[in-house]
Amino acid sequence: MLRLPGLIDLHVHMREPGAIHKEDWQSGTSAALAGGVTLVLAMPNTQPPVTDAQSLRLALDAARQKALCDYAQYLGATPDNADVVAELAPRAAGLKMYLDHTYGPLRLANMTDWMVHLARWPREIPLAVHAEGRTLAAVILLASFYDHPVHLCHVSRREEILIIRAAKERGLKVTCEVTPHHLFLSEEDIPALGQGRAEVRPALASPADRQALWDNLEVIDCFATDHAPHTLAEKNGPTPPPGFPGLETALPLFLTAVSEERLTLDDVVQRYHVNPQRIFRLPSQPETWVEVDTEATWEIQATTLLTRAAWTPFEGWRVRGRVVRVVVRGTEAFRDGKVLVPPGFGRNVREVSG
Ligand code: DOR
Ligand code: ZN
Ligand code: ZN
Repeated sequence: MLRLPGLIDLHVHMREPGAIHKEDWQSGTSAALAGGVTLVLAMPNTQPPVTDAQSLRLALDAARQKALCDYAQYLGATPDNADVVAELAPRAAGLKMYLDHTYGPLRLANMTDWMVHLARWPREIPLAVHAEGRTLAAVILLASFYDHPVHLCHVSRREEILIIRAAKERGLKVTCEVTPHHLFLSEEDIPALGQGRAEVRPALASPADRQALWDNLEVIDCFATDHAPHTLAEKNGPTPPPGFPGLETALPLFLTAVSEERLTLDDVVQRYHVNPQRIFRLPSQPETWVEVDTEATWEIQATTLLTRAAWTPFEGWRVRGRVVRVVVRGTEAFRDGKVLVPPGFGRNVREVSG
């Protein structure tokens, strides 16, 4: 039996408020616990999106009533909310700027809007961006003008990881995350997955892009799932929304890579706990750990997952390593496939005390 620190997932879509048929704070945080994740940061592209005090309250009310693990909520940038979100910054996981098209209405098309947020958002509170290809190069440049640290979400392509490497070599304040699906899948998997199910942003890339991520592992600060649940009916429908659920499959995939000596255990702990905590200035969770049976070999099957998405792009994959028990703040929260804490057990780690 192996004991790991509680994992921290910087990139999770909870779908509440607005689309709880895909996921709510309870189903999403059960999936987190089942994956050994004890702290999730929730993205703001809900309905309504989290862009001001009122929508933040709506999301945090749901989280306070339902969450089973600890959490914080991102704010989303719009062309006209820079002052409003800067005011709310201490209560947020961070600010998310969507700079390319993806799921939901949040997108900052105009680079002058990025500049306004870079000028206003506090440097010591995380700023995360969805920026692909040339957009990624552009936002690194603009962030450097303001000397503002920037965290690059779900890096997926060779040119991106090489730009980040070059930016770091120059001393620029950039950090990045990579998802399990961009490490373990490529566009070659699209036919088997089916076109609709394979939809995800950033899209699955070429095998050479995927290899470049593995070849530049030292440039990757964090692993984050981008857990983006949509139902199977939606994925198989005429307008399939992009996104994969990932919370329950990430650690088993990483541990399998450890057993194959493609990663070390320390690579995983650094990127799925240590660096997320440091970069996002998250408090440590006392008496919090995950017990893993590293010898257990099992087959990923959607029917056993707790996410409401009820499907996985890794269906049928044989993996090695199973989460047996999760202890959060001294309480046994998950054991042998069952959640043992009540809704509302989770704490907002950005709660302003007093
Ligand atoms: O595939 C994706 N799905 N990429 C995103 O950036 C958003 C996410 C979602 O919210 O479904
Ligand atoms: Zn994104
Ligand atoms: Zn996302």
